[in-house]
Amino acid sequence: MSTLKKLVTTAAVSISLVIGISAAVQAQSLGTPVDESQLKNFDLIAQADGSGYPDGGGTAIQGKAIFERRCVACHGMNGEGTSANTRLVGGDMQSEERPIRTVGSYWPHASTLFDYVQRAMPADAPKSLSSSEVYQVIAYVLNMNGIIEDSLLLNKESLMQVEMPNKDGFIDSSQAL
Ligand code: HEC
Repeated sequence: MSTLKKLVTTAAVSISLVIGISAAVQAQSLGTPVDESQLKNFDLIAQADGSGYPDGGGTAIQGKAIFERRCVACHGMNGEGTSANTRLVGGDMQSEERPIRTVGSYWPHASTLFDYVQRAMPADAPKSLSSSEVYQVIAYVLNMNGIIEDSLLLNKESLMQVEMPNKDGFIDSSQAL
């Protein structure tokens, strides 16, 4: 082996050794074990089949106060939004122009609203609402869209009964391939 080749080989071996060692060290020091209670705030998957919903509940009347305190800054007093993607109310999927997609006009399942708000809203403090507050504030969003009465007690049972205006607007292509 030429000296140059030897040098290159030695360098390659040392580099891969260094990478190997640092990867091993990293693997050992990465992360800390979590306990069940810490996992609670991550395992938040509420699905359209009714699984994953917490207890609690409330009405749009209660939700109005939460909305006014925690949501209007970005979504407007009446859910009209402060930009195209923060509009929550109204909209039209049948428009000749580009359809205006909102929770009311576009989303096919009310369960998505619970799941999304529980996980991601308010955007400046996600996961800061209690389960009952989430039910109440989404009841208000649904009520502003004319989908439910303001006195309906929204909870894990009644949420499943809510019919969204665009429920038939999607095609299931999961079996198409
Ligand atoms: C700090 C600003 C902010 C606050 C406060 C906030 N949101 Fe949002 N929200 C957003 C933004 C920005 C989006 C759009 C996110 C995107 O398109 O990815 C959004 C999206 C949403 C959507 C989905 C809209 C759609 O059609 O895609 C819902 C529902 C929603 N917010 C509900 C709420 C509720 C309920 C509250 C109060 C509890 C709240 N938000 C508070 C900023 C905010």
